[in-house]
Amino acid sequence: MSTDPFGLRSFDVDVARTRPGVKWQREPHMLASWVADMDFPVAPAITERLRALVDRGVFGYPNWPDGLSPAAHAFAARMERRHGWELDASRLHELADVVQGVRMAIGMLSSPGDGVALHLPAYHPFLYTMPMMDRRPISLPAAVDAAVEVIATERPAVMILCHPHNPTGRVFTRDELQQLADAAEEYDVWVISDEVHSDLLYAPARHIPFAAVSDAAARRCATVTSASKAFNLAGLRWAVLHAGPDVLDAAIREHPSHWFGAPNQFGVEATVAAWEDGDAWLTAVLDVLDENRHALSDLLARHLPGVGYTPPEATYLAWLDCSCLGAGDEPYELFRSRGVELSPGPQFGDGGDAHVRLNLATSPVVLASVVAAMGGA
Ligand SMILES: Cc1ncc(COP(=O)(O)O)c(C=O)c1O
Repeated sequence: MSTDPFGLRSFDVDVARTRPGVKWQREPHMLASWVADMDFPVAPAITERLRALVDRGVFGYPNWPDGLSPAAHAFAARMERRHGWELDASRLHELADVVQGVRMAIGMLSSPGDGVALHLPAYHPFLYTMPMMDRRPISLPAAVDAAVEVIATERPAVMILCHPHNPTGRVFTRDELQQLADAAEEYDVWVISDEVHSDLLYAPARHIPFAAVSDAAARRCATVTSASKAFNLAGLRWAVLHAGPDVLDAAIREHPSHWFGAPNQFGVEATVAAWEDGDAWLTAVLDVLDENRHALSDLLARHLPGVGYTPPEATYLAWLDCSCLGAGDEPYELFRSRGVELSPGPQFGDGGDAHVRLNLATSPVVLASVVAAMGGA
C-alpha cells in the first residue's frame, strides 16, 4: 500500500506551481509560502461529494426543512463528538466566511470608540477591522495573568481570541481559558472566539472550545469557525457562528432574513464531507505538518542559522524571528529578493517587526526548497 495515499508528500516545486489560486498564481515566478492555503490535494471525500452534486445537477434551492444546512448540523455533531460541547443549534448562524462573523459580532457587541482586546501580533484582518469600525485595539499580553490585568484596567467591550493563535501557533490551555472566562465575567467583556484552526493541533496540545469551558463562558462567547483552514476550502465560502450571548443572537435575528445571505450548497456539501468523512485525510495531513514543523528547525539551522523559531503547537504557520539577519523590520523584502514570498511580520502589528510568517502546508520537498531559497542557496 502507498505510504502517501493522499499525495501529500511527493510533489515538488514544479507541481506546486501548477496549483490554481492566489497563493501560487499571484506571482508565478516566486516560491509561495504566504497566504494560509495548503498545497495539498483536497480530501477525496470532498471531491467525490462535490462531483456527485455536479453529476446530479443539484443547483436549485436546497431542501433544508429546519432552516439550517446539513453543515450546521455537522458542526454541532462534531463539537459534541470531539470536544463534548453540546451547543444550542438554534443559535447557529451560517455565513460566507469567518472574518464576516468576527466583524458582525464586533459590530453587534460593541460601539464605535469601544476597546477591543486581542493578542498581538494578531491575524491582520482583525487589526484592519479596528480603524474600519472605529474600535480601539487593546493589546493583550501572552501571559494570562498580565492579560487579566489589562482587561481589568482597560475594560474592553470585547475580547477577540484567535484560538488557536495565528500567527504564533499557540494553544490556550483549559486553565488559561478559565482565567480569561472569569475575567470576562467579572469585567463584563464579550468574547469572540475564532476557532478556524482548531482541527490543526499537534499532540499533546488539545483544543477546548472557549464556549465549552463553562455555561457562563458559553453565554459570553460568539464562536466563529469553518472547515476552510483544516480542509483547504477557503474558496468555497461557508462558515458558522454560534451566538452564545442573547444580545448577539437577538441582534442577528432582528435583521431581515437574507440580510447576511444564504449558504452556498457547494460550501455546505464540502463542509459536511470534511467533517463527517475527512478524518483519515486530516490525520495524514497532520502527520506531514508535524514532520514539517520539526524539519523546519533543522532547515533553518542549515540555511538561516540564528533565525528564531519555536515549532507551533497548532496551525500550519511558522512564526520566524529574523532579527539576527540585520535586515531591519522587514526581512520579508530580503526573502522576496531571493524569490520567496512570505507573509510580512509587521502586518500582524506589535511584535511583528523583524518577523515573517511561513506556511508549512506543503510537501517536505517544497518546504526544503523554500527554506534553501530563503537562505540564498
Ligand atoms: C484566524 C483566522 N481567521 C479567519 C481566517 C479567514 O477565514 P475566512 O476566509 O473564512 O474569512 C483565517 C485565514 O487564514 C485565519 O487564520
